[in-house]
Amino acid sequence: MTTKLSAAPWADGPFDLITIPSNRLDGSLAHVYCASEMAHSHNVILRGLNAILQQAPFVPVSTDDNFNSQDAKDLLFYVQSWAKMVNHHHWVEESFIFPEIEKFAGRPGLMDTPKDEHALFHDGLEKLLAYALATKPDEYRWSGPGGMKEILDSFSKHLADHLYAEIELLLGMGDLDGAGLKRTWAQAENLAKQTGNISMLYDVFPTVLGCADKTFEGGNEFPPLPWVMPYLIKYWFAAGNGAWRFNPCDWWGRPRPLAFGPP
Ligand SMILES: [Fe+2]
Repeated sequence: MTTKLSAAPWADGPFDLITIPSNRLDGSLAHVYCASEMAHSHNVILRGLNAILQQAPFVPVSTDDNFNSQDAKDLLFYVQSWAKMVNHHHWVEESFIFPEIEKFAGRPGLMDTPKDEHALFHDGLEKLLAYALATKPDEYRWSGPGGMKEILDSFSKHLADHLYAEIELLLGMGDLDGAGLKRTWAQAENLAKQTGNISMLYDVFPTVLGCADKTFEGGNEFPPLPWVMPYLIKYWFAAGNGAWRFNPCDWWGRPRPLAFGPP
């Protein structure tokens, strides 16, 4: 259940958000905990994708009378930031989380399915990132051949299917030793944290914060960041960048109406 502010379209569709497993199963079990943490991350990715799909059609392009190059520029930066966030998530999984789980479980190939699924949307995501990086605001198009919709449509269902399937895969790990799985998860997270870099504070972090709905299904504390982080993002790293108008939540994870939509 999502806190919808009105009947207007929001970032809980067109792709459905994931029900958090610990809200219906015992969250003290390691595999339920891991699946729930992953579900929160995946919902961040899905809300960002939905926010793009819901708002981009209403951003005027240069052939429209009401074209404003700043709007198109901001949308392209938002899309670029979202694509970088998705890339980072999957890089962390393939570099740290999946190998650690396979080692711990003693089952090489256990995580082959999500890796194969990554391959299904990898090229489309790269194409989107390249488009958002290279396109000038007055060249930007949503619909038609070569437009951004065509690129998103080429991979977004593969991406969403993967985001749903990975939760089920983790929920199927109830036979692994719970304490060991939790330790492995924490180790992989620590390794991943050490790879973050300062440039991510200008694009990936503002996307994560603005797509994390802290009111979802009764409330949650995802992402687990220091309390000062939303202030640093708002007043420093994200300050003056209009791209963040496209986020469906404010810096404190409170849902807000989408900035662009049907008249
Ligand atoms: Fe994932």
